[in-house]
Amino acid sequence: MELKDKVAIVTGSGRGIGEGIARVLGRAGAAIVVMDMNPKNAESVAEAITKEGGRALPLVANVTQEDTLEKMVQETVKQFGTLDILVNNAGIESSPKLLTDLTKAQWDKVIAVNLTGVFLCCKAVIPTMIAKGKGRIVNIGSIASLRMTFFGSAEYTASKHGVVGLTQHLAWELADHNITVNTVCPGGVLTPLMEMGTNREMRERLTKRLVPLGRFCTIEEIGRAVLFLASDQSDMITGQNLAVDGGLLTGYGEDLRAFIRERMKAAA
Ligand SMILES: NC(=O)c1ccc[n+]([C@@H]2O[C@H](COP(=O)([O-])OP(=O)(O)OC[C@H]3O[C@@H](n4cnc5c(N)ncnc54)[C@H](O)[C@@H]3O)[C@@H](O)[C@H]2O)c1
Repeated sequence: MELKDKVAIVTGSGRGIGEGIARVLGRAGAAIVVMDMNPKNAESVAEAITKEGGRALPLVANVTQEDTLEKMVQETVKQFGTLDILVNNAGIESSPKLLTDLTKAQWDKVIAVNLTGVFLCCKAVIPTMIAKGKGRIVNIGSIASLRMTFFGSAEYTASKHGVVGLTQHLAWELADHNITVNTVCPGGVLTPLMEMGTNREMRERLTKRLVPLGRFCTIEEIGRAVLFLASDQSDMITGQNLAVDGGLLTGYGEDLRAFIRERMKAAA
């Protein structure tokens, strides 16, 4: 088991991608702190991990509230004796709007969870990891960490680009302490968040046009990328972005491939 005797906090793991990550890390042997704002969801994911033979603690906290994060770290160490891995997954979407229609309140809300939340969670766990002389931080960005979102508005793109910048700084700052910091950038993943924002026809059109591998990612596929970056397999990798997107960032979805095929035919 790759994460035997390790302890991981996964923020926002009461559902969606966070649940996928928590369950994959749990199966790999780590004790999981299932942290979420929603107590019922945190409990049900912790229960599912326990049923699969793992160890899990449901924990209610808010990534925007520093006092709840201090308690999260204290409770983790109290229950499991140590802390090895932090996965900053909690995040919120935004509805698509032109910048001129965006209020400051909407901007602040997304930045507070998606970017400031990552900063605050890192700040809360770093002293424990430094004392231990080792640690792994995996941030969940997005393909919107690397180009504009096709789903929400500018504040989401800005927040996720910020995560990549923060990852670079922390990777450099924490290298002396044997703590690695990386970002996983999911493409479209079929989660409650994605289901709420799209209908089936939109999703089919989107994947056909944008994703060379032709489908959305599963939550477990994101979990497996996180597992790699949280395990000893990735000892020398820090400050990196790993896109798990079915090739979306190549830009060569169905439309462009049809264009390329036409050009190839014309040139033959
Ligand atoms: N779904 C996608 O296609 C997709 C693509 C790229 C990146 N992402 C990113 O992946 C992450 C997870 O997204 P998801 O689709 O699973 O979303 P989701 O809404 O399904 O799940 C998010 C979870 O985070 C929790 N949460 C929200 N705000 C919180 C806070 N302040 N403190 C603690 N917990 C909080 C929610 O209660 C929820 O359980 C986000 O960072 C998102 O931006 C998602």
